[in-house]
Amino acid sequence: MNHGPLIAAGAFVSLAFSWAALVMAPQVQLGSLAPASIPNTSDVHPANRPGLAAQGAEVYRSLGCYQCHTRQVRQDALLYGVRLVDRGSNASTINLELPDSGRTNLVNFNLLIALAKSRADLGITPVAVPAVLAADTNVAPVLKEFATELKLLKQFDDKAQVVRSTSKTVNELAAALPVEVLERTGPDEAERAVKLLNDAGGKAELVIYNLGPDIERGWGARRSVARDFVNDSPVLLGSLRAGPDLACLGSRAPEKFAAAWKFASTNLASEMEQRLLIHLYNPRLVAPASTCPSAKYLFATKQPDQRFAGESLQVPGSDKPVYPRHDARALVAYLLDQRLDVGLPEAPVTKPSGPAKIAAAPAKP
Ligand code: HEC
Repeated sequence: MNHGPLIAAGAFVSLAFSWAALVMAPQVQLGSLAPASIPNTSDVHPANRPGLAAQGAEVYRSLGCYQCHTRQVRQDALLYGVRLVDRGSNASTINLELPDSGRTNLVNFNLLIALAKSRADLGITPVAVPAVLAADTNVAPVLKEFATELKLLKQFDDKAQVVRSTSKTVNELAAALPVEVLERTGPDEAERAVKLLNDAGGKAELVIYNLGPDIERGWGARRSVARDFVNDSPVLLGSLRAGPDLACLGSRAPEKFAAAWKFASTNLASEMEQRLLIHLYNPRLVAPASTCPSAKYLFATKQPDQRFAGESLQVPGSDKPVYPRHDARALVAYLLDQRLDVGLPEAPVTKPSGPAKIAAAPAKP
């Protein structure tokens, strides 16, 4: 029997399937990725590399820095939280101080209820209203509504067998702004709380917690995603971490470097450049036990021809300056261009704003 055509058709189908799975599917998923615009700015991420940094990418590649350094920050978990930033000033916000007292004590009653609904571990203390105010025609209806809401909340709590604490209360929470209302919870719980608080007239925002050892080390505010590399060709992810990850070197906090340091002045960019040039010249000058190879050949010891002369570099422990060649400056420009502090739709970040921490919500796995 002649099975030739059948075998050929079978081979064709299996090759076609492999091609579809290995070539076409990734192309459909990632082929149209483009830089994302950064909200409230005219910038995009990843930005087009300036010329010098683009040349630096080639230097990085040619020197094999990726043999020991990765450029991909990993992350284990993404959790959500809620930050209350404003108490709001709607109809249910009343000033409990008498008009001529010169003081203000603004209480948003709806917000207290919303906080109690978002945090079943917190109690709610009765709000003391001066007798003169309680009779006020503006205040009385708000108080009545508050009492009704409290009653409903109590019924709900009883049904759900919620026992509220008496030590920590929503009143304290509402008094300290900005404050983390919920920390490290799931997305549904956080979104519900944001909606409750915003509906109550307050201003709450979603907080994003990117978690994992890389993030704790300060190697990036979030994980690296495919979009971070759309300007790279080839993509030098690296696979071995003999040295720290460099994905976010340009926006990393100074104390988060392998050999931490503090900037001497506020002139961040140039000090960072200086420091990286010295590290490149001889890593041992910055981190005494470093195994990072020195790239002294990227520096001239004599001042080059005037037309090509850049600024000189003063190296610690030597009174003679050295002159970084073009490649050294390009490499440093490339390193400084590495940033992961910008949120993307698929990898969001929140900027910390130093919130008060009154009472941590129960941690959720
Ligand atoms: C043999 C492995 C190896 C190679 C190749 C290598 N490095 Fe390193 N690198 C290290 C190690 C280990 C450290 C950590 C110690 C230190 O800070 O010097 C490091 C640290 C660094 C740091 C400081 C990072 C931090 O978090 O403090 C920079 C910047 C750096 N390397 C850049 C480069 C560049 C640019 C190249 C390519 C020219 C390169 N490295 C090649 C091993 C390597």
